[in-house]
Amino acid sequence: MTTLITGASRGIGFAMAVQLAARGERVVALNRTASPELATRGVQVHDGIELTDVEGVAALAAGFVPGSLDRIIANAGLRIDDDFADFRLDDLRRQFEVNALAPLNLVRALAPALKDGGKVALISTRVGSLADNGRGGEFGYRMSKAALNMAGVNLAHALKPRGIGVFLLHPGFVRTDLTGGQGLIDAAESAAKLIAMTDDLTIAETGSFWHAIERTRLPW
Ligand SMILES: NC(=O)c1ccc[n+]([C@@H]2O[C@H](COP(=O)([O-])OP(=O)(O)OC[C@H]3O[C@@H](n4cnc5c(N)ncnc54)[C@H](OP(=O)(O)O)[C@@H]3O)[C@@H](O)[C@H]2O)c1
Repeated sequence: MTTLITGASRGIGFAMAVQLAARGERVVALNRTASPELATRGVQVHDGIELTDVEGVAALAAGFVPGSLDRIIANAGLRIDDDFADFRLDDLRRQFEVNALAPLNLVRALAPALKDGGKVALISTRVGSLADNGRGGEFGYRMSKAALNMAGVNLAHALKPRGIGVFLLHPGFVRTDLTGGQGLIDAAESAAKLIAMTDDLTIAETGSFWHAIERTRLPW
């Protein structure tokens, strides 16, 4: 089993890469920032990958053997805190680039490398749910993750003929840099639940949005 994961330099992505490697799987990490520790855990690491660099991602993807990946976990993400009074359009654009456009571009670029019957997990967030938005704020993060959710449903349609399932997963409220260390669970617990959901979901559920900790469907 070979899994490609983005944003494994730290946080939830690091924990997922370590756990997948520990159970004997081949893990390929696409990281922007070097993480020498990952290589010591048996992960094949590509450093210096800026995921919004379309040409760079295309060049990297061209080096993958067709059908060599079982799963892609698009985990890398960016949250810039904002509110109605202070949001900046440049920050909103950047979050769209990182959280919505980069994962979409990555999956299309790597689609030939993904086996028929493979899986794509897009790490979303429940705050990207329109129906679940009970308090507002976080304009850039919410809007970019809502766009990711739509990209994921479209990818599910595009890849269904090849038996490839696409899933949107909320990792819980996790103590990482992205939350400033706030959260209900640590990255290792979140990673274990995300991996378990990715293992268990099937093509029958393609295009669905899940709370990976509670194992319940989230509303769009
Ligand atoms: N933590 C939570 O409570 C929570 C809740 C809901 C959803 N999520 C989602 O879970 C995912 C992982 O979050 P986290 O909490 O582990 O965040 P994190 O600790 O801040 O880690 C973010 C990862 O994404 C990478 N990344 C960001 N922008 C990138 C870019 N332009 N190109 C390449 N890599 C980039 C970072 O690389 P560098 O080290 O190079 O910056 C880092 O590896 C994100 O998609 C996030 O939105 C997290």
